[in-house]
Amino acid sequence: MSSDSVSFPADFVWGAATAAYQIEGAVDEDGRGESIWDRFCSTPGKVRAGDSGAIACDFYHRFPQDIELMGELGLDAFRFSIAWPRILPAGRGAVNEAGLDFYDRLVDELLAHGLQPFVTLYHWDLPQALEDAGGWPARATAEAFVEYTEVVASRLGDRVEHWITHNEPWVVSWLGHAWGQHAPGRTNLEDALAAAHHLLLSHGWATEVLRHHSPGSQVGITLVLMPTYPASETEGDREAARQVDGAVNRWFLDPLFKAEYPADMLAYFGAAAPPVRQGDLDAIAQPLDFLGVNYYFRQVLRENPDGGLPLLVPDPDAARTDMGWEIHPQGLLDLLVRVRDDYDPPPIYITENGAAFADVRGHDGVVQDPERQAYIAEHLDALGRAVEAGVPVRGYFVWSLLDNFEWSFGYGKRFGIVYVDYPTLERVPKASYRWYRDFIAAQRNGAGELVSR
Ligand code: FCB
Repeated sequence: MSSDSVSFPADFVWGAATAAYQIEGAVDEDGRGESIWDRFCSTPGKVRAGDSGAIACDFYHRFPQDIELMGELGLDAFRFSIAWPRILPAGRGAVNEAGLDFYDRLVDELLAHGLQPFVTLYHWDLPQALEDAGGWPARATAEAFVEYTEVVASRLGDRVEHWITHNEPWVVSWLGHAWGQHAPGRTNLEDALAAAHHLLLSHGWATEVLRHHSPGSQVGITLVLMPTYPASETEGDREAARQVDGAVNRWFLDPLFKAEYPADMLAYFGAAAPPVRQGDLDAIAQPLDFLGVNYYFRQVLRENPDGGLPLLVPDPDAARTDMGWEIHPQGLLDLLVRVRDDYDPPPIYITENGAAFADVRGHDGVVQDPERQAYIAEHLDALGRAVEAGVPVRGYFVWSLLDNFEWSFGYGKRFGIVYVDYPTLERVPKASYRWYRDFIAAQRNGAGELVSR
């Protein structure tokens, strides 16, 4: 089914998403401090080909022209993150006014072009000084996040109407602290669970600060959610799917919406369970104005006959992106319906969805990316069906506006709807950019009611 036949509500928000370390570059400019990703990138063997965010897309200097591209695309909103080490180079204490000035200019320029800023406070670039003091496994880092939030909200809170405290706490805690694939590169389950708890706790505390310093704004958090499916209907496979769902999805949704960690997972983690203090869960579970959902792929699981972790069962026939991620738009619908049924959430924004493909620039200078276009169209179709089913979805942000630094994969994976020629930093809108532009325009012209397909 093609997305030509879907129609979204007239006030649906169309956006594109990015993150500071992935696009800004300028890591040594205007007083920015070191982040854990600078350190991780300079550690041999951690990031593909020794890549780093030192230059990235040079968005720090080129944002005015990128905002022109957003305008031509017809976006309603732009999601970006703030680099904590630009604001507080040592994590706490002295404020770097030049860092605040940059985001001040960015917000003003967006608003001048009719674009709503959706601001993420933490998209993974912790000041290295805070990592040295214990990082997210230490409760003090949650306190530092509140101070940082206060500084940012005091400066931008009069103009920013949508705040996202954290991006994907599951990735931060597990990939960064249990599996060592992301900064800070730790490999310890206890650290991962403590980090997850302090990320959630800092979200709750920061929410109060944002409500105070940015009155009338909408505050949310972004989770990456992965629907899990059992490979068969056996009890063992169902339990395998339930366990992965517990670690990735319920571990974050339950505290946010039910003020508790899932009992089965607490039992499973045993002595590694997080250091929860009285009042923490109530702080975490205070009402959200919206939930941000990032969706990329599903997981199919079966019981491990050796009794170890559940086993992934890849579908050999499935289409995949350049990340090796299975393309499964139905998973987006399934997961949204499930979140609606189990958690009765506030408005939902899809804060990321998109795909990497090995794009090349043709001799005619054009970048054709039919796979990405199809990926987005199919996911928008699934999203339209979620809206029809009554899930309160209010917006969609494609990941990403620009090709950028894809964490441990460096510049080897291209997610943008705009191609970046890294040697020259030239921007080349891909075919998917033009498709998304036309799709948004068609929604504006014909929208208002959901039409049946
Ligand atoms: C998400 C991240 C984002 C980007 C995409 C591909 O997990 O939030 O920064 O790397 O994956």
